[in-house]
Amino acid sequence: MPADGLHLFRADDRRSPLQRGRRLALQATSLARLPRPVARFWLRAMRRAQAARDTWSIDVACRPAELRVLLDTLDGAQRVAEIGTAAAWTTCCLTLAQPGREVHSWDVEAHPERERYLALLAPGDRRRVHLHDRPGGLGPAEPPPVDAVFIDSSHEYDETVATFRTWEAALAPGGIIAFHDWQDDAYPGVTAAVRDLGLEGAGRGHVFVWRKPEYCGP
Ligand SMILES: C[S@@+](CC[C@H](N)C(=O)[O-])C[C@H]1O[C@@H](n2cnc3c(N)ncnc32)[C@H](O)[C@@H]1O
Repeated sequence: MPADGLHLFRADDRRSPLQRGRRLALQATSLARLPRPVARFWLRAMRRAQAARDTWSIDVACRPAELRVLLDTLDGAQRVAEIGTAAAWTTCCLTLAQPGREVHSWDVEAHPERERYLALLAPGDRRRVHLHDRPGGLGPAEPPPVDAVFIDSSHEYDETVATFRTWEAALAPGGIIAFHDWQDDAYPGVTAAVRDLGLEGAGRGHVFVWRKPEYCGP
């Protein structure tokens, strides 16, 4: 069992004990404030990952504090695209956060770990998850219309720009594109892509949120 009990810190985390303590308090508070099915899934996934010694899945998944921001930002979106499935923790959380929501998730690689966590979903919820093994920047030949897109893939500049351009066209007017790890020193490509795309939006922590104008007329 890791020192923080829940393994909420990545193996390469270099923060001081005080900073870690504060962060842990924030994550625990955020976890308690997530919608109940989401919090329950997240804890079950964490226990399953610890039992399997699957630290990769723990390390790559959105933490509860970021998840709260994301779920709040995407509230009401019935058709969501996620670019970067990894172990599907956030895919499952997006699905459980809203009854009837359809979640399409793209990844360049079908990471086998994802099956361990997708198995935690009830069959009816699992049917609302659609997985696509293909670069998110290419998208499908004809992207399905969506209300929101969450970009959390390679974090590279070119790919982030390509993914935005692919999905902007598929996004309903008033829809949202959320970029994960914006203004995070570890991922300068995301911040630079948002800047060079000239997007006007709002930052909420490390999530940058851009909304497509309702009217795109002449
Ligand atoms: C940080 S992880 C995603 C974490 C996940 N969104 C979550 O919160 O649980 C990044 C994922 O993006 C995938 N990826 C990398 N390049 C990609 C691309 N061009 N298109 C789609 N996915 C990509 C990686 O294989 C990896 O699984």
